[in-house]
Amino acid sequence: MPARNVHQLALITGASNGIGLELAKTLAARERCDLILVARTKEKLEHLARELEKTHSIHCHVLAMDLGQHGSARELYDQVKKMGLSPDTLINNAGFGDAGAFVRSKDAKIESMMTLNMETLTLLTRYFAAGMVEKQNGRILNVASIAAFQPGPYMAVYYATKAYVLSFTEALAVELKNSGVTVTALCPGPVLTGFQSGANMADDAGMLKTPAVLPAAKVAEIGYEAMKCGSTVAIAGTINRLMTFSTRLAPRSITAKIAGRLNRGHKHKSENVL
Ligand SMILES: NC(=O)c1ccc[n+]([C@@H]2O[C@H](COP(=O)([O-])OP(=O)(O)OC[C@H]3O[C@@H](n4cnc5c(N)ncnc54)[C@H](OP(=O)(O)O)[C@@H]3O)[C@@H](O)[C@H]2O)c1
Repeated sequence: MPARNVHQLALITGASNGIGLELAKTLAARERCDLILVARTKEKLEHLARELEKTHSIHCHVLAMDLGQHGSARELYDQVKKMGLSPDTLINNAGFGDAGAFVRSKDAKIESMMTLNMETLTLLTRYFAAGMVEKQNGRILNVASIAAFQPGPYMAVYYATKAYVLSFTEALAVELKNSGVTVTALCPGPVLTGFQSGANMADDAGMLKTPAVLPAAKVAEIGYEAMKCGSTVAIAGTINRLMTFSTRLAPRSITAKIAGRLNRGHKHKSENVL
C-alpha cells in the first residue's frame, strides 16, 4: 500500500460519474489521501465513498450539492470550513455541455452551464487557493477540454466555457509560480461518460467512434500525473495533442467551420439544429 504523502485531503467536484469518479479512484489508490466527494447524486457518492474507504483505508466525506447555482461555491467552501477541513488538492471537474443551435437552446441550461463550468470553478479556486498559498502547499486541477482551443459552432457556449477554463488556468499558473501551489488544466478529447447524454448528443456521433476516444480511467491517470508534476496544461492522448497542435496553426475561421460541420453532423436527440 502506498504511504501517505504531503497531500492529505482532496476535494473533487463531479465525483459521482465519469472522469471525476476515476480521478477519485486514482487519488485514493496512488496517494491514499482522504477525499471530499461532491456532486448532486448523493447515493452514487456514498456508494463510491464506501468502496474507496474499504479498499484503501481512507476517509471520504460526501457533499451532495448543485454547483450550477449562483452562490454554490461559497456554500460549499463554508460547509467544508464548518467541518474543520482544509483540502490541499482541489479538482474542479464537474461540468456539462449542450449540443445544438444556440438560438434554440434553453436559457436556464446555458445559465447553469456557465455557472458550473466557469463561475463555480473560479470561485472555488479563489476560496481554496488562498489557504493553500498561506501554507505554501497545494494543487489545483481544472478540467477543461480540447474544445478550449477553438470556437465550436453548435456547441458554442460549451466551447467558450472551456476556453475560459484554459485561459484562467494558464494565467493563474503564472501568478502562483513559486507560491508552492500549482494549477493544471486537463484537456480531454472525447471520453464515453454521462457527458454525451447530458449534452444531448447522440451515441453514434462521429467523433465518438475515432481512436481519439480514451477511457475515463486513462484520462484520469493523465490528469493525475500532470497535476503531480505541476504541469500547466495536459492534453489527453497523442491524437488529441496532434489535433490541438494543428488547430493552433490553422486560422480560427477555418477551425470554426470544421468544428461546426462536425458538431452539426451529430444527430442531436432534440433535433435543435438550424
Ligand atoms: N466526456 C467527454 O467527452 C469530455 C471531453 C472533454 C472534457 N470533458 C469534461 O470533463 C468533465 C467531467 O465530465 P464527464 O465526461 O466525466 O461527464 P459525466 O460523466 O456527465 O460527469 C459529470 C460529473 O459532474 C457532476 N455534475 C454535473 N452537473 C453538476 C451540478 N450542477 N452540480 C454538481 N455536480 C454536477 C455529475 O454528477 P451529478 O449528475 O450527480 O451531479 C458528474 O459527477 C466536465 O467538465 C466535462 O466538460 C468531458
